[in-house]
Amino acid sequence: MATGETTREQLHEENIQLRRQLHEAQKMTALGELVSTTTHEFNNVLMTILNYAKMGIRHKDDPTRDKAFDKIMAAGERAAKITNAVLGMARNRSDDMVPTDLASLIDESLVLLEREMHKYRIQIEKVYEKDLPKVKANGNQIQQVLLNLLTNARQAIGESGHIVIRLKVDTANNTVDMSVRDSGSGISQDKLRQIFTPYFSTKDGPDETGKGGAGLGLSACRDIVNSHNGRIRVESTVGKGTCFTIKLPLAKKPAPAPAPAPVLPHTNAQPSPNMLAND
Ligand SMILES: Nc1ncnc2c1ncn2[C@@H]1O[C@H](COP(=O)(O)OP(=O)(O)OP(=O)(O)O)[C@@H](O)[C@H]1O
Ligand SMILES: [Mg+2]
Repeated sequence: MATGETTREQLHEENIQLRRQLHEAQKMTALGELVSTTTHEFNNVLMTILNYAKMGIRHKDDPTRDKAFDKIMAAGERAAKITNAVLGMARNRSDDMVPTDLASLIDESLVLLEREMHKYRIQIEKVYEKDLPKVKANGNQIQQVLLNLLTNARQAIGESGHIVIRLKVDTANNTVDMSVRDSGSGISQDKLRQIFTPYFSTKDGPDETGKGGAGLGLSACRDIVNSHNGRIRVESTVGKGTCFTIKLPLAKKPAPAPAPAPVLPHTNAQPSPNMLAND
């Protein structure tokens, strides 16, 4: 009996340890990917600066030099944005949850993926509701979630397509909802059940940017969202695309509403797209 108890406890403890290690592993993978992405982005900016500087030196006329300076200035500003995004992450290494503005977090993250998305001819559209309240979150962790979702979306699209990132408030649940919708391959019902399982992957291995194939991205997303007391949902239609929605609790609870929200009638109808939620 006592042995049984100990074994169960040991297994439980081992399980917690393994999950922690898994979480660390995804964090390291994400960090490695981020270093690779930023180095490529930065290199691209440097090439622009060097090429326009050469052009300015070669051609002494004012219009050419003005153009060269404009391009160098724009590239320099972009370089500053990239370093700001990386420094922001380096500064915030704790796991603290603080009031966080999701719109700026998304904008900062997108700076890091601009070149990559451009290379694969993927258009990104941002649709943010106005005056969004802050959420209680750890910026680095949510950025890790976003980068995982965007990389998955990009890989599901392959070449040429679009991604829509939406932010809206859910007043009934006191959350801000961040969704990433792609025009990619979609996920079949049988696979949908497994996508959050650690090591589940349909990819052969890392792609030419060194990303994907570990099968840890979505399991890390789910763990992070759960630790925020949030929800992650997915909706997908094969051949049309996939939409992941992350619901994060507001940093400040709004004043109580005068009347309770109406209860929606329950329906047993099957939704047409494949759906899965972590609750
Ligand atoms: N937006 C998407 N569209 C289609 N399939 C997706 C999408 N996101 C995830 N998947 C499927 O879910 C699987 C698991 O995703 P996950 O991010 O956990 O792992 P991965 O991308 O294969 O590897 P990595 O851990 O390196 O990110 C993917 O292999 C893919 O089959
Ligand atoms: Mg992935």
